[in-house]
Amino acid sequence: MNKDTVNENIDPEWGDDDQKPYLEHGKKLVKELAEKLGRQPTCCVVTFGCQMNARDSEKLLGVLLDMGYADNGEDENADFVVYNTCTVRDHANQRVYGRLGALQGYKRQNADMKIALCGCMMQEEAVIDRIRKSYRFVDLLFGTHNLYTFPQLVCDMLESDRMIISVWKKEHGIVEELPVSRKYPFKSGVNIMFGCNNFCSYCIVPYVRGRERSRNAKDILMEVERLAADGVKEVMLLGQNVNSYGNDLEDGLTFPQLLREIEKVEGIERIRFMSSHPKDLSDDLIEVMAQSKKICRHLHLAMQSGSTRILKSMNRHYTKEDYLRLAEKLRDRIPDLALTTDIIVGFPGEERSDVEETVDVIRRAEFDNAFTFIYSIRTGTPAAKMEQVDRQTAGEHFDIVLKAVQETARKRAGRLTGRVCDVLVEEVNDHDPSLLTGRLSNNVIVHFPGDPSLIGQIVDVRLNECKGFYYLGSMV
Ligand code: SAM
Ligand code: SF4
Ligand code: F3S
Repeated sequence: MNKDTVNENIDPEWGDDDQKPYLEHGKKLVKELAEKLGRQPTCCVVTFGCQMNARDSEKLLGVLLDMGYADNGEDENADFVVYNTCTVRDHANQRVYGRLGALQGYKRQNADMKIALCGCMMQEEAVIDRIRKSYRFVDLLFGTHNLYTFPQLVCDMLESDRMIISVWKKEHGIVEELPVSRKYPFKSGVNIMFGCNNFCSYCIVPYVRGRERSRNAKDILMEVERLAADGVKEVMLLGQNVNSYGNDLEDGLTFPQLLREIEKVEGIERIRFMSSHPKDLSDDLIEVMAQSKKICRHLHLAMQSGSTRILKSMNRHYTKEDYLRLAEKLRDRIPDLALTTDIIVGFPGEERSDVEETVDVIRRAEFDNAFTFIYSIRTGTPAAKMEQVDRQTAGEHFDIVLKAVQETARKRAGRLTGRVCDVLVEEVNDHDPSLLTGRLSNNVIVHFPGDPSLIGQIVDVRLNECKGFYYLGSMV
């Protein structure tokens, strides 16, 4: 007999308030657990994947802290461990399975330990089947579409000794109110939209995150104002394709219009956003960026390939020339912009001549940096059924592209040497506690001597020396 509690397609009367009673009930359950353990129960939320997942993790942690758990940081030896997973490439999945093995050892030593898995991997049926079969020590599985029911699921888990599986197959609307525990007091991610409609032929995200849903501008602005009042100086607006923000809203703002509104929020000094799809990047956006005093001088604009033939097969809706034109326009209008990108190599059908096209764009667009990924087959996507490139050839393509990326990045690095720039101080340097580590508007890291009391402040730093991907500086 199957003893799992499975819940696949609930469609409750969901809304902003329906989790409040569970938050309260959870507090009672965690208090009882504390009495049993003779100490405050600890929790740990581990994030895999992108900024969207990192933001979701802050919501998960917010719920657990609200219920009375203490954050155990990175330590997996906690009473409740949550893995917020990613499935964009197979490597991401393998990391989760690997760490789960280690977690089983910890659980043997702590009988009260609970383990939850959530995030993008959980939207895949094959993953759920595998966990159910081979990882029986996991207590709770839930997906991306019902993340907001976490308070209810924690209560169910604490009151049951069965594996609880609650993965909704489809996305629902947007629920606004959940407690959030921010990782940094001075900067924060802000979701402006969820899901993706683009169906790039290699990508699993639209299948595990659902269709595009934009948040109302009013809610976004209220959140940004609240963050500013709380001392946040930098916001990162998050969406899989922020350039199509508002397309699904009646009378909604466009993304450039939203940026203009966020710019007006007093206290917010820096605005970042990601990700941008080249096909939807408008002249209006370039204009808003060029005129803005707050939008950071960094744009991450995923190119994926420089070959028009491959781009077509990837379903990206732009050509090599379109991308180059955009890059040129951006460089002309915003000369101090750092342009970074994502590149996939080894996509089905990729030949040496396609790689040469990619290298050509890398050299002409002069990326400040690029993430290069070897194509990973994702089951259920159109590219999975195309004729694949063998691993050795993909590896060769990877080396060629990486070399070109490193060459242009080296050329771009150091161009600010000698200048005085504003730096948001983020932390004490990992290796040398006499140094602080901060970030330039263009997203480059700077290390400089200073007092930890400056963390969270924006200070002027002279960039004395470039060390490749970071600067050494001194405050002026
Ligand atoms: N929505 C973002 C965009 O289009 O710019 C990208 C989001 S995706 C999470 C981040 C990057 O992962 C993509 O830009 C792409 O380069 C890479 N990626 C996605 N699917 C992949 C796959 N199947 N194999 C290798 N890399 C992949
Ligand atoms: Fe994936 Fe393409 Fe959507 Fe980005 S735009 S999340 S690459 S489908
Ligand atoms: Fe991964 Fe999901 Fe982000 S698949 S990259 S965590 S949207």
